[in-house]
Amino acid sequence: MERLLRLLCDGEFHTGDQLGELLGVGRAAIWKQIQKLQDWGLGIQSVKGKGYRLAQPLELLDAQRIRDCMDEQAAGALKSLDIHFQTTSTNDVAMSMAASGGGSGCFCLAEQQTAGRGRRGRSWVSPLASNLYLSGVWEFYNGAAALEGLSLATAVAIADALHDVGVTGIRLKWPNDILLGNAKLAGILLEMTGDPSGRCQVVLGIGINHHMPQAAAAAIEQKWTALDLHHSGISRNALAGHVISRLLLMLLQFQDEGFEAFRARWQSLDGYSGQEVVIKTGAADIEGVADGVNETGGLRLITAAGVEIIKGGEVSLRARA
Ligand code: BTN
Repeated sequence: MERLLRLLCDGEFHTGDQLGELLGVGRAAIWKQIQKLQDWGLGIQSVKGKGYRLAQPLELLDAQRIRDCMDEQAAGALKSLDIHFQTTSTNDVAMSMAASGGGSGCFCLAEQQTAGRGRRGRSWVSPLASNLYLSGVWEFYNGAAALEGLSLATAVAIADALHDVGVTGIRLKWPNDILLGNAKLAGILLEMTGDPSGRCQVVLGIGINHHMPQAAAAAIEQKWTALDLHHSGISRNALAGHVISRLLLMLLQFQDEGFEAFRARWQSLDGYSGQEVVIKTGAADIEGVADGVNETGGLRLITAAGVEIIKGGEVSLRARA
């Protein structure tokens, strides 16, 4: 399937015979695979006498092109970079890299996730070759307490990477949603394995909507947007390179300085500062005016009773595998 897609991604017509010859299978097998790609949401035209072509040319992920867009210091901290055609969730892949001693700086991406997950038990819609799904591992030595604010610092790194490739108007919504034009463009899911009071490995999972095929969009339960609705021609590989770079630089600084080093930048991107908001907790709703974040990334909420600090669920804890 992957090899077929690589042949088609130039956006030109290819006949079933040509494709079959290149892949060593018959025309009928090609037709079946084309149907599967269509089922996965890819627009493929079929014209008698001309063959098949993608409705839009595609840029598949390419490890070398991603590395070419990385900052030198960040590239030095990158331990491995794996690209999967299809996986359940890049966080699953990264969690097993972490559990098997992969350690800081292991990253992976996928063209498609079959069980992409978001925060609060939601799923993350992850159609083929359309968006970015990536996860990285970083090891910390002082337990979960030292990770306060990490998801907010991660949001800052993503915002900076988007800025690097020319995206303007990014805002953040506490604790770590990335918004463009008031809709969600990207999400962050941190998961942890290891000793919650000592040496632990954090998996940082990032999803960025680049182009959302219509069929997939119908399954999204929140107000969403995608980069191609605002900007044309942003390379997925360049974006991935900048995102991984910014994440690695952030992690190197965060492990020494914590969230404090990112607080001012987070606040400069805050989309809700000074606005009346409602915080939905499991138990009750809390109303107030958002007033930025404190030194550990807690939301400062001005309520009738005074300033309350709201803590976000920074990481969801899992038992060691
Ligand atoms: C959110 O709900 O805002 C978090 C979404 C996180 C999605 C990314 S996509 C890459 C990684 N793999 C997953 O299954 N989830 C994260």
